[in-house]
Amino acid sequence: MSTAAGRVRTAILISGRGSNMVALIEAARAADFPAEIALVAANLPDAGGLERARSAGIAAVCVDHRPFGKDREGFERALDEALRAHGIELVALAGFMRVLTPWFVTRWQGRLINIHPSLLPDFRGTHTHARALEAGVAEHGCTVHFVVPELDAGPTILQARVPVLPGDDEASLSARVLEQEHRIYPQALALVASGAARLENGAAVGA
Ligand code: GAR
Repeated sequence: MSTAAGRVRTAILISGRGSNMVALIEAARAADFPAEIALVAANLPDAGGLERARSAGIAAVCVDHRPFGKDREGFERALDEALRAHGIELVALAGFMRVLTPWFVTRWQGRLINIHPSLLPDFRGTHTHARALEAGVAEHGCTVHFVVPELDAGPTILQARVPVLPGDDEASLSARVLEQEHRIYPQALALVASGAARLENGAAVGA
């Protein structure tokens, strides 16, 4: 995606504390990183990541989804406007806990990525760590993928695996996975922003 004009203007969408957001912001500080974090947007005004973004000197806005009620697309149109107002070219979801409609996903197709705390296609949706423990799997992990209209079903860009250890609970397992999230998300963003990984005919090429 990299253009002659320079680094790809990227927005990070969050709903909460934003630890993955911080990992992306830190990676993008390197002069040779192909993406520039130009905006952080949250769907809730009390998302802790908003303040963290501002103190890192990044423009941060809230587009509150609540006034839109059941009008998901109305919310997304407002979000899309904020993205366009900031000249955004690539969007990274980082703990953004709203399901996106086909309207938004199609509009940003190939330029919209997400991190999910499981080894997709296993454990789509929420409570992934509890469900992995309950299923008794030996390995768990995280996945960065292109977003497609079907939830957590887009093609994988990068994955990282961790062992599930005896005595693990949700907290210990999620901490082990999160460490890997912070490692692979910047790598995956760099792959997409540089054009090394692309979405072509519904498949991830070069990933
Ligand atoms: C991360 O574990 C991320 O993978 C997960 O939410 C957490 C956000 O943490 N995302 C999802 O579950 C998306 N379905 P963070 O705000 O500290 O990055």
